[in-house]
Formats: sequence, C-alpha cells, structure tokens
Amino acid sequence: MQEKILILDFGSQTTQLIGRRIRDLNTYCEIVPYNKLPENIEGVRGVILSGSPYSVYDPKAFRITLNELRGRFPLLGICYGAQSLVYQAGGKVEPSETREYGSSQLNLLAPEDPLLKGLSPRSTVWMSHGDTITELPQGFTTIASTDQVTHAAYRIEGELTWGVQFHPEAFHSAEGVRLLENFINIVGIAGNWSPDAFIERSVVELREQLGNDKVLLALSGGVDSSVVAVLLHRAIGNNLTCIFVDHGLLRKGEAEQVLEDYRHLGLNVIGVDAHEQFYTALEGVADPEQKRKIIGKGFIDVFEAEASKLQGIKWLGQGTIYPDIIESINITGMVIKSHHNVGGLPERMKLKLVEPIRTLFKDEVRRVGKALGMQAHLLERHPFPGPGLGIRILGAVTPEKVRILQEADHIYMSEMRKQGLYNSVWQAGAILLPVKSVGVMGDERTYEYTIALRAVNSVDAMSADWIRLPYEFLAKVSNEIINKVRGVNRVVYDISSKPPSTIEWE
Ligand code: XMP
Repeated sequence: MQEKILILDFGSQTTQLIGRRIRDLNTYCEIVPYNKLPENIEGVRGVILSGSPYSVYDPKAFRITLNELRGRFPLLGICYGAQSLVYQAGGKVEPSETREYGSSQLNLLAPEDPLLKGLSPRSTVWMSHGDTITELPQGFTTIASTDQVTHAAYRIEGELTWGVQFHPEAFHSAEGVRLLENFINIVGIAGNWSPDAFIERSVVELREQLGNDKVLLALSGGVDSSVVAVLLHRAIGNNLTCIFVDHGLLRKGEAEQVLEDYRHLGLNVIGVDAHEQFYTALEGVADPEQKRKIIGKGFIDVFEAEASKLQGIKWLGQGTIYPDIIESINITGMVIKSHHNVGGLPERMKLKLVEPIRTLFKDEVRRVGKALGMQAHLLERHPFPGPGLGIRILGAVTPEKVRILQEADHIYMSEMRKQGLYNSVWQAGAILLPVKSVGVMGDERTYEYTIALRAVNSVDAMSADWIRLPYEFLAKVSNEIINKVRGVNRVVYDISSKPPSTIEWE
C-alpha cells in the first residue's frame, strides 16, 4: 500500500505546485478535489488543505467539516485552509482593508516548533490573501507573524495541526520548501517515493491487475508511451504487443531509429509503414484542422486494422500522466477537459484501459525511464505533435514538401545536438512556409521556399517564450539549409511568444 500525503484542493491556482514541491522532495502525494476524500484512506498519513479563490464566509465557498480530519492525521492548512480551520473552530476571519499580495518577512515566535525548524529569522514568505485571521480560537497558538499579519502561522495545541497564512509552495517563499519538508518529516514518510520503489510496486500491481491478459499499446516514439511500454514489458513480458504507425510525417530517420530502439529494449513491436496511405488522404488538403482530423482518423484505421489481426487482446495501454488527470478534474468534480485517449479506441474496441504512469509528473516519467535502463535520447526527446510534420508544412502536404522539411529539420536538430543546445531547449523544429521568394545562387536567380526555425522554452506548453539562440548557431544552420536542401533559398527565425502566438504554426 502506498503511503501518501493527501492534498485537498479548494480551488487555488497553486494547488498543483504544492503537489510538485512534495514530489520534488521524493515523497508521494496525491491531489483530490476538496469534497472527494477517497473512501479508502488506508495509505493516507497526512493532509494538506489548499488555498481557495473564496472567502470562508462566502455562501459559495467550498466547505467540508474539518473536525472530521483534525486529530486523525497531521494536518497543514494553507491560506484558505488555515482560515477555514480557524473559522470552523469559532475564531475570527475578516476581510483585510487591502488585499495583501507580495513578499513579507516572518517573525518566528516559536523557532523550535517542528514546522518552523531551521527557518531563518525574517524569512521571506509569499502572501496572497484578501481575508485575514483576526482572532484565534481557544487552543490555537500563534507561532509566527509578519509586520502586517499577526497570525501568519499557528499550531493547535495537543494536535499535529498547523495553519499558515502564506504560501510555502510559491517560488517567492524563500524557505517554503523547508517548511513543507518539515511537514513531511512530521508526517513521517520522507523520501518514500523513488523511481525504483515506483517500478517495483507498479510491476506487482500490474501483474495483479492484468494476470495473464494480453495488452496492446500504441507507441508514438514519445517519452510517455515509451516508458509505459518498458514498464508493462517488465511486468507482463510478451503479453504486451506494441504497434508503431509510421505516417510518413515523422522527422528524418526517426521511424527507423525508434523501431530499432524499441527492439533493442526487447519490446514486441509491430512497425507499420503507412506513409503512402496518409499522403494520399492528405492530397490537396490545406486546412490545418482538416489535416489533423485526417491524420487522427488514418492513425486509428491503421491501428485497428493491425489490432484485428491479433487474438485475445483485453487491454489498451495508455501513456496518461498526472497533469492530464489534474487538468481533467475540477473541484466540483466535473470533467473540464477529458484527457485524450487514442481517438476513443478503448470504447470502440471494447478494451479496458491500463494507465501505469497516471500518477507521475513529466520529469518523474523520465526518472522512471532512466531507472528502467532506457537510453537518454529516448527520454530527453522534445515534445512532438501527433500529426507531426503534417502541421509544420503550411498548406497542402506533398511528398516533396515532406522531403524538404525533413532535410531542413534534420540539419537544425543535428546542429542543435552537436552544439550542446538540445537539452536546454524545450521544443524546437523547422516549419516549411508556403512562401517563395527570390534569391541568387552563383549566377542564377532562384525562386524557392522559405524555412522558419522555431525554438521555445515552456513548462507545460500553455505559455512559451522564444529562445535567444546564439547568432552563430543560427548562421550555421541557415547556411547549411540553404546550401544543402534543394528547394529552399531563405531561412527565418520565429521570435514570437505564446500567447498571443502558438508554438506550432498550424
Ligand atoms: P500550440 O501550437 O497549441 O502547441 O502552442 C502546444 C503543444 O502541443 C503540441 N501540439 C499538438 N500535439 N497533436 C498533438 O499531439 C496536435 O494536434 C498538436 N498541436 C500542437 C505542440 O507541439 C506543442 O508542444
């Protein structure tokens, strides 16, 4: 049984960050909507109450009876969580005259308190609240204040319950991680998450879940599906069959490379070269959404056709990761964005879903992959869109355009690797523009295509900043592309950020 800290989400924008910080401390935690306390709380060893956009006395505020939690587990209320504990125990929470937003310095009134241990005097903390605790109930003791906030942190005597008005999870709280680490130590499960422990437990659980059943998995070449494949393979061996569909819109040489990598890992992979089918279906189609639909449907058709040749498959493996799940739930328990499964395949093929990395953040997926012995180049791969180069060739796709873009992209990405820039870039790629312009080569006038280069940094693809790549690097790439790729006589660099632009051009 996995021991964990449970984070009850009352709707704060920083709830995910609390989870992130605790996982960064190699400790297992899960975020659940405030009103979705799991029935089986066997593994729960501590609880954190998050902040919220509401005031405690707002009729719409998210409320649960905290008395049911107090005393059962070590408990930490953050911001709204801290105010709720006070309010429900009969203390006073009032609107402050001005919303306090920004850095403050903590005065430690009980520096030896287990929650504050090791914090520096006047430690900087991040405040973001409209209400303030003005009176603590009986049995609550203030353990820290700031110049503006009297009860910046408190403890309930005789219980392992604390509340903090500030946000220890916020980047600007200089020693916030230390405070969360202190809480983890109080809970007593410090360091219970490691890639090796995760693998060991997953293998046992997958064997229990799947027995001798057969599982099918669509491999994309990306990090998530690859790690799922290796993990499932470790658990059930050749009862796992993988299908890798080459739609002819991958990077140059990638399909061959990926297949070779997978086979090297001992996986049972069926590689399907379907590029002609995709090129035919895309002929003359210029609209980006239309292209996406055609590629998505084509993928499903090929996948289903291959799967139908196999006997006795019961499960479909999927590389869902934790951010997909957190995005899918909101605190009223309604789905706001259903995480993508492969085009509704599980329902259509009447397969059950197995999602072995659904509790992992992206960097944890990479750590697990590494512990599974996977090569770095498989794990450190940039994100790459499902429709591939199909949405990086603006307008209609032709085999000739695919060739041009593959060559140009290959020069760009190889040089990026050669110059040691690849791992400091979140995502990069070349785009083929439907723009021809005049150039001169030797004595000849040319009239050829333009390649745009894109490189961005991002955390979650929701926003992204263009990267200030060195001029010398850009000059080298531009020269090579223009000299070596037939059909291109101009290279430009995209200096737009998201928003308002997007990462892809289509
Ligand atoms: P945008 O262009 O929306 O891209 O800023 C954000 C991230 O999503 C990827 N992307 C896709 N991935 N199918 C995918 O699997 C798609 O249709 C698709 N469109 C964009 C993009 O590469 C970036 O990482």
